[in-house]
Amino acid sequence: MSLSSDGQTWDPASYSKNARFVSDLGMPVLDLLAPKAGERILDLGCGDGVLTKAINDAGARVVGIDASAEQVAAARARGVDARILGGEELTFNGEFDAVFSNAALHWIKDQGALLAGVWRALRDGGRFVAEMGGAGNVAAVHESLYQALRRRGIDARLCDPWYFPGPDEYGALLAKANFSIDSIDLINRPTPIPGPLADWLDVFAQRFLSAVPAGEQADLKTEVESAVRAKLCDTNGKWTVDYVRLRFKAIKAAG
Ligand code: BEZ
Repeated sequence: MSLSSDGQTWDPASYSKNARFVSDLGMPVLDLLAPKAGERILDLGCGDGVLTKAINDAGARVVGIDASAEQVAAARARGVDARILGGEELTFNGEFDAVFSNAALHWIKDQGALLAGVWRALRDGGRFVAEMGGAGNVAAVHESLYQALRRRGIDARLCDPWYFPGPDEYGALLAKANFSIDSIDLINRPTPIPGPLADWLDVFAQRFLSAVPAGEQADLKTEVESAVRAKLCDTNGKWTVDYVRLRFKAIKAAG
């Protein structure tokens, strides 16, 4: 689920082992998309293509894009049309009935460029249906990463790749980009993860980890785990991360 290649890498095997829940929990946003047979749909940040294939299986003609060449190869192996492209570089013009995105938009730095590209890609009246991290997403982990880096004299703002807006903030960006908003909701979704938090950090928090030398990253992860264990880990050692989703459906108003 990558729309930016900025210092974050995606290994399909590790993604499948540690992050399969990302697509498994994508059903509500897929329901909101409600793909129809024959529609042309763009899947932004398609990752390894699990949801792209579900859209394809609904009879739509889907194109997936992702900035990660490895994830695009994994998506193609599922038999879907997937291309290597970043979210700020969309070149499509009035050719999609819908643009879909799950768990990818929060990696984008230039949201104005992204939304302009999505607007251009849609036909008039086309829909943009997406889910991303929303305000307060993974807050306990996020805050403890900031604190652990601060203790090492590092300002985490300089390496933080995540953008988690609330409905008012993102609604204003959508309106500015000439979308009319059908729905936009902030949803608490505490999410059990398959292994230890350290493995989750290896997949999702690479930019924070690589702010310290490789030899110090294990200590950093241990420190973050200790800081949030009481809140996010039960007595059986099962971790549940404090995910919050922003889910919306917006329509391309004529420009
Ligand atoms: C998310 O999908 O909410 C997410 C992705 C990367 C880091 C943190 C959260």
